[in-house]
Amino acid sequence: MFMTAPKIALLASSLVSAALASVTIQNNDPLIFFHGRWDSSPGTWWAGSGLKLNVVGLSSLTLNLGSHTSSPMAAVGVSVNFQPFFTVNVTQGSNKIPLGTLPKGENTVVRLNVEGWQNNRINLQNIVLNTGAKLLPYVPSKLAFTFIGDSLSAGQFLPLGVDQAWPFLTGEFFKAEHTVIAQPGAALSDIVSFSNQHGLSFEFFRTEDDGYFFTTDHNFTTPWDFSRDHPTPTHIVIHIGANDSAQNISASSFIQTYLAFIKRLRTLFPKQPLFIFTPWGWPNADGSIGQYYPGAYQTIVNTVKSGGDKNIFLVDTTGWVTFADVFPTNQHPNVGGHMKIAANFEKVLTNAGVKPQANWATPIVKV
Ligand SMILES: *[C@@H]1O[C@H](CO)[C@@H](O)[C@H](O)[C@H]1NC(C)=O
Ligand SMILES: *[C@@H]1O[C@H](CO)[C@@H](O)[C@H](O)[C@H]1NC(C)=O
Ligand SMILES: *[C@@H]1O[C@H](CO)[C@@H](O)[C@H](O)[C@H]1NC(C)=O
Ligand SMILES: *[C@@H]1O[C@H](CO)[C@@H](O)[C@H](O)[C@H]1NC(C)=O
Repeated sequence: MFMTAPKIALLASSLVSAALASVTIQNNDPLIFFHGRWDSSPGTWWAGSGLKLNVVGLSSLTLNLGSHTSSPMAAVGVSVNFQPFFTVNVTQGSNKIPLGTLPKGENTVVRLNVEGWQNNRINLQNIVLNTGAKLLPYVPSKLAFTFIGDSLSAGQFLPLGVDQAWPFLTGEFFKAEHTVIAQPGAALSDIVSFSNQHGLSFEFFRTEDDGYFFTTDHNFTTPWDFSRDHPTPTHIVIHIGANDSAQNISASSFIQTYLAFIKRLRTLFPKQPLFIFTPWGWPNADGSIGQYYPGAYQTIVNTVKSGGDKNIFLVDTTGWVTFADVFPTNQHPNVGGHMKIAANFEKVLTNAGVKPQANWATPIVKV
């Protein structure tokens, strides 16, 4: 076939631009596996919310984020091919995510989540991948844990936030999907507590965390559509009460609130085992432990059981956390403390017959 010089030049330049062109994944692409709670912008709320991608031919990944992204930035935990999470600070605009050296000829799984209980909003516009990259479905684990709690579950004070907190560590150990609906300072009772406008007995059923009240662009909450929890949670874990106690909610009122909360949870999660933590308390330098609601959690679990629901388990955390395991200034578990709590809870779950998955459900294979 005969081509004129200008035609050849045109062909060459279109080949070059094809090589430089990239693949843009729109924020409503069904192959983006969203987890946790996202509003319609779409934007994250609650520490741990994020997304997962399974990509062939990946060498470059850029997140383009919109105006509802936390300012000045949001800390995001990133894990490539199920390796440990590292932090990337992202901002509104274009954010290239470092991926390290990727083995050739294999698919790549990228997992990404907001780490913080505040400044945890990323507003996804689109994702730009290198030319030739192609999304495949991310296959979720058969295990899916939902954790409900306060600062002691949200990873407050940890360098990597929720990514170093015991719920997240437990989820990773079991190779499970995991969602952490936890708000520092919040009670279970629906009261104002340490600047949170609502307790978890309200906020758990909303898309937004209590941070909504401190935003001007989204100062409201919307109901969470639980059909968007995918996969459906298989296990529910609750550790709460410290801030009810701090707000002088009586034990009997706390117990009533907790029982009503479980009743409402059962309308959503009728068959899932519920694991109810007793407090490990507030460890002091002299070795003593500040306790709250002694006996209340036993009463809650026994009351539910005597009502015929046997699928509820008390997790007695007595002695799990000592002064060496907490930050001395705020008595919240430190990095090692969270690892210790996770190891203890993993034993409890294993003894209850929950088995860590042998492999992540999305395999890394030759493609
Ligand atoms: C993210 O930003 C925080 C606050 O400025 C900073 O302390 C931290 O080192 C940054 N982390 C990374 C990985 O850039
Ligand atoms: C309760 O709220 C106060 C104030 O934010 C905080 O110091 C305390 O650690 C909180 N406790 C929990 C368990 O969230
Ligand atoms: C959000 O709205 C409430 C009133 O509903 C107001 O008290 C609060 O100051 C608002 N927050 C911001 C950051 O403007
Ligand atoms: C709770 O009660 C204690 C002891 O009576 C009191 O010192 C504290 O101020 C009360 N806290 C609240 C939030 O009402």
